[in-house]
Amino acid sequence: MSRKRPLIVVSNRGPVTYDRDEHGARVERRGGGGLVTALRGLREEHDVTWIASASTEEDRVVAREGGTEVVLVAHDPSAYDAYYNVIANPLLWFVQHSLWGLADAPELDRALHDAWHDGYVEVNAAFAGAVVAQLDNNPDAIVFFHDYHLYLAPRLVREARPDALLAHFVHIPWPGDLSTLPSELRQPILDGLLANDVVGFHTERWARNFVHTCGDIGTTTVTHHAISVDAGEFDALARSEAVHEQEQLIARGEKLIVRVDRTDPSKNIVRGFHAFELFLAEHPEWHRRVSMLALLDPSRQAVPEYAAYLERIEQAVEAVNGRFGDERWLPVDLQVADNFPQSVAAYKQYDVLLVNAVFDGLNLVAKEGPLVNTRDGVLVLSENAGAHEELAPWAVSVNPFDVAGQADAIHAALTMPDDERRRRATGLREQVRAHGIAAWTSAQLADFDAALARRRSRNVDA
Ligand code: G6P
Repeated sequence: MSRKRPLIVVSNRGPVTYDRDEHGARVERRGGGGLVTALRGLREEHDVTWIASASTEEDRVVAREGGTEVVLVAHDPSAYDAYYNVIANPLLWFVQHSLWGLADAPELDRALHDAWHDGYVEVNAAFAGAVVAQLDNNPDAIVFFHDYHLYLAPRLVREARPDALLAHFVHIPWPGDLSTLPSELRQPILDGLLANDVVGFHTERWARNFVHTCGDIGTTTVTHHAISVDAGEFDALARSEAVHEQEQLIARGEKLIVRVDRTDPSKNIVRGFHAFELFLAEHPEWHRRVSMLALLDPSRQAVPEYAAYLERIEQAVEAVNGRFGDERWLPVDLQVADNFPQSVAAYKQYDVLLVNAVFDGLNLVAKEGPLVNTRDGVLVLSENAGAHEELAPWAVSVNPFDVAGQADAIHAALTMPDDERRRRATGLREQVRAHGIAAWTSAQLADFDAALARRRSRNVDA
């Protein structure tokens, strides 16, 4: 799979964002998030034009200037706000991660419908326009859309360019049921996705749910390939000075439980603290011997549900520390910051890595941690994280709603015999090394080739 391909990658968040430093000079920062990290490799090996939203003031300046290999689309700010903060997060994110308690939420009021029309539809149309303009320069390029921000764009591109090869990868779960969405939203979403030649998911479970949701309203090829990480990049990070410095700062007793997440309700952080609290209540013999380090990256704080969740996280930590902590022992060390070297340092040091997501498209933490861990640490993994489909043989599985089960899993992980820990940790590491990001990329390209071949044979038949 070494041939260089012309690709147009389309995602809300881009591989870089621009700012100005204190001297007024333009600086380039690498974009964050799992999606961007995973896709960055594509740019090194293929002929990629990346289309993304302008997210800072300086991005807007760059967008007006044009001419970079990243095409930044500057949206109307209020349309973008409605698209990002009302429709994509929370509505679509919450529906797809099954996060609503349906007795009270969601309430799809007039403002929600307006946000759909004036925000989501409009921003998707702007993305589609940018894609069509790129296809004019490069008609043979394959268009590769990403995620729940862009469900409507493929249909619009298809109408303008019937012969283009379009693919879409959905990085988040596809739920068993989309009936929370009125058909005014649901139909265009399905119709948009079905305009692609290929729709990809991380797991067979999400792919099956999607096929089930679509019923017989259209046809497309639905595939599943779990995304992964670049082992070489993590090896280098693990050896870096920045990570060594952070390792010195980690306070550890006999055993360390780690979690690394965005402060997202889908990550199930509050129930994780409840489980640790229950474990401590039931196992006083572990007091002062174990602590939990929670490294949480503040996420999407402009969305009220996310701001409220961060408050609940802080309250849950205070409850555990107030109940069990003393001047010698802080049961939960909560750090709310975006500090990647600190996360890698914690990955190296954990005895137990807790990944208990309510639902998760994949969860890269479950792959990154085992790659660099040095202590034969145990992965406690939610059966609703996409990574579970691949990593279950070596993980301690938990149901994310079962707080008692998670408390038991913490105990089992902390008391697991050394040889069993080693067997599992080695299994995880070997699996992730053997199925890295390069394998995911090759699988995508093979799907695109197959779709191109089908398209060509259809054209010959016609
Ligand atoms: C996570 C998800 C991605 C999603 C990204 C965007 O990384 O796994 O599927 O595209 O979040 O979220 P953000 O908060 O960066 O807009």
